[in-house]
Amino acid sequence: MTRSIGRVIAISLFAACSNEPPPPVQMTAETRADSVGIASMAFQPAAFDTIAWETRQLAIDRGSVVFSISCSKCHGESARGNGGFVFQGDTLRPPSFMATDWRFTDDPMGLRKQIFMGNVAGMPYWGLVGLKYRDIDAVSVFITELLRTNYSLN
Ligand code: HEC
Repeated sequence: MTRSIGRVIAISLFAACSNEPPPPVQMTAETRADSVGIASMAFQPAAFDTIAWETRQLAIDRGSVVFSISCSKCHGESARGNGGFVFQGDTLRPPSFMATDWRFTDDPMGLRKQIFMGNVAGMPYWGLVGLKYRDIDAVSVFITELLRTNYSLN
């Protein structure tokens, strides 16, 4: 009797161990590309139509918080690409958002989509992993209407 209880306990302990999830593996470039692709398909431009800010300043204030928490470690406080974040052994050097010929200058929806889908170089696919459309809108407004408007472009 006691022996069979012992065996049941031993078996259930073994079962518990074999149900452990496998140890985390480093994400491959292919897996990242899949996630970026999934995010790209999930992006819904129409979601921005329903976002309203009482004042532009409220959007800028919210965007400033989002930027300093979620973006500046890679892009740098002034968005010049000098955050110095190390990803898989390399220091990331994203392009400056302050270039006069920045590719999103006249493409506000392209900017929002880029933020939503991230990229294979190490930027998180924010739309899948943490930022709501409202925060993506806010940080886009912050970049274009505060940083690029108030600080010198180069
Ligand atoms: C872990 C690092 C990391 C974080 C965090 C990050 N990015 Fe990026 N981002 C990058 C890298 C690296 C690139 C450049 C990719 C390339 O060159 O292909 C990039 C590119 C971009 C671009 C395209 C710039 C251009 O001129 O082509 C935009 C826009 C952008 N990021 C916005 C953001 C915003 C907004 C946030 C915060 C919500 C953010 N990123 C957070 C690493 C990051």
